This record gives sequence, C-alpha cells and structure tokens, in this order.
Amino acid sequence: MAPTWRLLTSRLPPTHTDGRVIDLPFLKDATGASFLDVRKLYPTTQICTYDPGFNSTASCASAITFIDGDKGRLLYRGYPIEDLAEHGDMADCAHLLIRGVLPTRKQRREFQREVRAHRLVHEHLIRFFHGFNHDAHPMAILVSVVGALSAFYNDDHDYTDPATRDLAGMRCVGKMPTLAAYAYKTAHGQPIVYPRDDLNLAQNLMYMIFALPTRPYDLDPVACRCLEVILMLHADHEQNASTSTVRIAGSSQANPFACIAAGVASLWGPAHGGANEAVLSMLEEIGTVDRIPECVARAKSKTDPFRLMGFGHRVYKQTDPRARLMRNMCHKLLDHLKIEDPLLDLAMELEKVALSDEYFIKRKLYPNVDFYSGICFRALGIPREMFTVIFAVGRSVGWISQWIEMAGENVSRISRPRQMYEGALERPFVPISEREGDDGDEEDPIDSRPDSADDLHHLGRMLSVRIANSHGA
Ligand code: CMC
Repeated sequence: MAPTWRLLTSRLPPTHTDGRVIDLPFLKDATGASFLDVRKLYPTTQICTYDPGFNSTASCASAITFIDGDKGRLLYRGYPIEDLAEHGDMADCAHLLIRGVLPTRKQRREFQREVRAHRLVHEHLIRFFHGFNHDAHPMAILVSVVGALSAFYNDDHDYTDPATRDLAGMRCVGKMPTLAAYAYKTAHGQPIVYPRDDLNLAQNLMYMIFALPTRPYDLDPVACRCLEVILMLHADHEQNASTSTVRIAGSSQANPFACIAAGVASLWGPAHGGANEAVLSMLEEIGTVDRIPECVARAKSKTDPFRLMGFGHRVYKQTDPRARLMRNMCHKLLDHLKIEDPLLDLAMELEKVALSDEYFIKRKLYPNVDFYSGICFRALGIPREMFTVIFAVGRSVGWISQWIEMAGENVSRISRPRQMYEGALERPFVPISEREGDDGDEEDPIDSRPDSADDLHHLGRMLSVRIANSHGA
C-alpha cells in the first residue's frame, strides 16, 4: 500500500535563473517529512539537481520500512524492530515485509508451508558450486549462484501479476539460506547438506552450514534463536545501497533473481555489509586495550584512509537500535555458550573511547549493527567470510519485498540518473598516425607479449590444483 501523499499549496520561494521563475511543489510523506518534488524540474527548465551519494534525494516512495535517524528508531511496516525481535520470528518478519501484515495463525502456517516447498534448489544449479575453487570467497559464490537462479525461473516472467511476484518472494525466502549454506560448504570442501522440513529458516541455515552427513548434529535452540534475531535485524533497512541496487536493476524489468544478485554484489563492500567482517579484522589488529588510542587517532586522521569499522551511518545520527539489540544479544549468547571473548571487552572499550571523543561526538558517529554482529557470529562458530553471506540471507527478505513493491507500481520508470559531465567537449577524430606519441610501428597480428605475472601466477595455481585433483589429492 503506497503512503498517502499530499500536495501542499505553499511553495518554495521562487528561484531566479536566467530570469525564469522555478516553482516547485513540496510533498509530505506519512510522517510529515517534506520533500521537494523536482520531477518537473528538468523537463521544464533543463536544470538538474546534483547529489552524488543521494544524501538529499528520495529515490522512491515506499511503505515498507521507516528509519527515524535522529531518534534511532527502525520500524518494519510500522512495528518497532525491538518488538519484532523480542516477540516475533522470521516467519512473522518475512510475511510482514513481503505481504504487508503480521500473519494470522492460518496465514503463518500457509506461508511457512509455501517457503518450505521452495527450499530445495534444482540439482543442476548445484553443479555450479563445483566450478569454484576451494578458496573462493562465499560472497563470490553467492553472487554467482543467486544470479544463476534467474536461468531456472525465467518461464513465468509476467511480473504484472501479483501472484507471480509473490511466488518470486517465496522462492527467494526459501532458497537464499540453502544457497548461502552451499556457498559455505563449497568454500570448505564439505559435502552439501539438504534442508529439512521440520526446521525453521534459522535452524535450517545453522543445520545446513554445520551438519555433516557422517554424524548427528544437535541444534542449540539459544544459538538458533540468536541467528534468527540477527536475520530479523538485517531484514530490511529502507533505501540502502544494496536495496537501491535491487530497485535500479528491477526498474529495467530484469529477472528478480538477477536483481537480488545485484543486491548481493552491492552488499559485499566494507562500507556496507562487508563491515562486519572488517570489524573483526580491525579488533584483532588492535589486539589489546592499550592500542585503542592509536587506532582512534588513525580513524580521525584526514591523511589516513582508515575508518573505525562498525561506526557511523548515513541515516542514524543518534544510535542504531540494531546495534543496541545486537550488543545485548552478544552478552546473552556468550553467557549461554560459556565463552569469554576478549574481543567483546575490546569492542566495548573501543565504543567507550570513541563515544567520548570530540571527533565522533561532533559527527554523530555511533556503533552500527555491524559493530557487535561479528562477535555474535564468532560465538556461533560462523567463520568470518560467512558474515556478509548471513547478512545477505536476512536482507534478501527486504530486497525481494522492495522489488515486489516496485514491480507492482503502475507508474514506475526506469532508473536513469543524469550526470554532471566533466570530460572533453566534442572534438574531431584523430587518425592513429597523427596521435601524440605514436611510434609508427604496425600492430602485431597476435599479441606476443607474455601474460602479466599475476595472470601467470593464477594460471599456475589453477594448473597445480587440476594436477593435484587428477592424482586424487
Ligand atoms: N570512522 C571515522 N570517521 C568516520 C567514520 C568512521 N567509521 N564514518 C564517517 N566518518 C567521518 C567522515 O570521515 C566524515 O568526516 P568529515 O566530515 O570530517 O569529512 C564524516 O564522518 C561523515 O562521513 P561520511 O563518509 O560523509 O558519511 P556517509 O554517510 O557517507 O557514510 C558510512 C556512512 C557507514 C559508509 C561510514 O560511516 C563508514 O564508512 N563507516 C564504516 C563502515 C561501516 O561500519 N559500514 C556499515 C554501515 S551499517 C550496515 C549497513 O547498513 O550496511
């Protein structure tokens, strides 16, 4: 359901450009926030807005998730994340995000049945996993196999039909944990483990990651619940980089799984979902409390690209509610598993030091969700390179919800930003003999130069793996 928009009668003070008056309306969203409607700006004036990073630009109207960055509030369809994390589960959360309402018992049963029916992936898709080297990053595997899903589900491409969009949602929720777990198994050279119908989404993810066909695997209910809450905390976060990527890809009416693969790619970077991995590396690099001041000084330095990973957020300028929940859960989980992790003490001390530092106070930089999630993952036994993969499983629920919302809009247009061109202006083509620095030699018919050292090294590695495999190693 789209939010109610209201066109205000009050207008911006007119801006004069070349003697013309630009008269633009304000819009208000459901919370009363104001938006300057610039849709008619270019067609009527040939003037564009310039906003790299989209700091001041709303790219769409959405009724799914709301963040109040100043108050540190996060709502899924109006429900506070704290309440969902305490009283709800992943089935509630996915139903809410995808279908817009908290499910009744009957709707919940039906939803869970549908998701269960979509957990398996086609056996031919499993062959894709065999093509990766043992040292492939699970995110590299995930981005590929999620994209490959589009080759398996291209038959029912009428996404003007709400039922077809919903089916894409069920497939996404059902299959993402399976693909994520297979990515893990591939990266660890272990046999894949099929999902079980008697387990919920988080339990299944845990089971498919850690179980082996050779021995029974007991699920720890506290650990599974912790993973479930982590998935819920990551499920959606309005128009972040990866979600916007999914929407932009979807705006060309591309296959939804290709769009989700684009979202996985965008999530991977350390400024986004890859931050959880980077936080742990940072904490390990700091090592001891006495090295915190040195690290904070580096983060503040304008000549050092180092940033305090897990700190700061484009929207939250108070506190990230997910970080608070994650920190509490971290303590509970470590207590339950009777783990003493020195990195948690280090993280808490680092948080204390940064939060009392003028630089971080002035810029409103607080711990974000990723600051403590790595320590939770570590306690759960999940290896570092899987952190962002788990994030992707949670966020895929939001991605597909946002895609469903966008694909259901009648008025959606292809996303096509403009640019501020800074290159050469039109000039005549220069024949090769007249180009500056031309050596006068004809080109080799075949490039006989050796490959780069990097390429040769990689080729050598691939060959040695192949030879080792052919000897049964
Ligand atoms: N450490 C040190 N300084 C920082 C940090 C940080 N983590 N984050 C921002 N700043 C400074 C930045 O240098 C700038 O300073 P100045 O005004 O003097 O130039 C100021 O704070 C504003 O930063 P910005 O880069 O304009 O902020 P942004 O909104 O573009 O970036 C961010 C947001 C999350 C990418 C950034 O804070 C960051 O790189 N944080 C570390 C990575 C991280 O934890 N990412 C996870 C984000 S939450 C999970 C998710 O949703 O993906």
